[in-house]
Amino acid sequence: MRVGIMLDEHYTNPKLAEIYDIDSGWSVDRDFYLSLADPSKKLEILDLGCGTGLLCDAYAARGHSVTGCDPSKTMLDVARLKPHGKNIEWVESSAQDFKSLKSFDLIVMTGHAFQVLLSEEDILIALSNMKRHLKTGGLIVFEARNPAVNWVECWDYSMSLDTKFGSVEESRKFLNWDGQRMSFELVYKFPNETFISKSDLLFLSKNKICDLLIASGLVADSVFGGWDKSPFYPDFSKEMIFFVRHN
Ligand SMILES: C[S@@+](CC[C@H](N)C(=O)[O-])C[C@H]1O[C@@H](n2cnc3c(N)ncnc32)[C@H](O)[C@@H]1O
Repeated sequence: MRVGIMLDEHYTNPKLAEIYDIDSGWSVDRDFYLSLADPSKKLEILDLGCGTGLLCDAYAARGHSVTGCDPSKTMLDVARLKPHGKNIEWVESSAQDFKSLKSFDLIVMTGHAFQVLLSEEDILIALSNMKRHLKTGGLIVFEARNPAVNWVECWDYSMSLDTKFGSVEESRKFLNWDGQRMSFELVYKFPNETFISKSDLLFLSKNKICDLLIASGLVADSVFGGWDKSPFYPDFSKEMIFFVRHN
């Protein structure tokens, strides 16, 4: 694992990893990513920051050859138990350090995992690594939140989760915004214990990410603003969904 990588409690606490899919289950973005893999072909697919492996499992169920990579052993332990988990290669690594002899038709980074890369240097290393593992003609797709949207205003939430541990009260609370980086905390109140996980995410503009792609020898050939492939509107689209190929 990368020297100095600090994983959030959210991804290292076995109980929190076990309940991850309850509030981050199948969703429109996962449908979107699944639709990128032509079911009539057997593709070589890499999911970087795969978490609990929901999407990896869905690709594998369609017969693709799947590699799921995540630096959190705890998340991978949950991922391995997915129905097709035994047919998937699980790699404990960051996106920056991932190494394989394989090359891939499709590389994805989903669930805003791209934003856990907290410096331009880390992004450049991760993008160059994706390029190194991409087949000629292959596709990289990832998304980040558009920093022009007022995320602070809509960040906080609380909800009740019905889990095998009983009812868990989950809440997310904004802590700080420095113009590019947001700090926040997630609080999980289990029946007999409470866990607090602090996180940081980096919010870069579309143009900045396009510059970093070019510096990595890649190019964004489209950027969408929503999961219905609607155009990206710089002032109000929530998502920036990058379709990237070799330069
Ligand atoms: C928000 S979760 C997204 C998980 C999954 N992609 C999804 O859509 O549900 C972010 C994931 O990124 C992983 N992660 C943290 N640092 C990372 C890094 N440097 N490279 C790759 N993944 C990382 C975490 O362990 C976590 O599983």
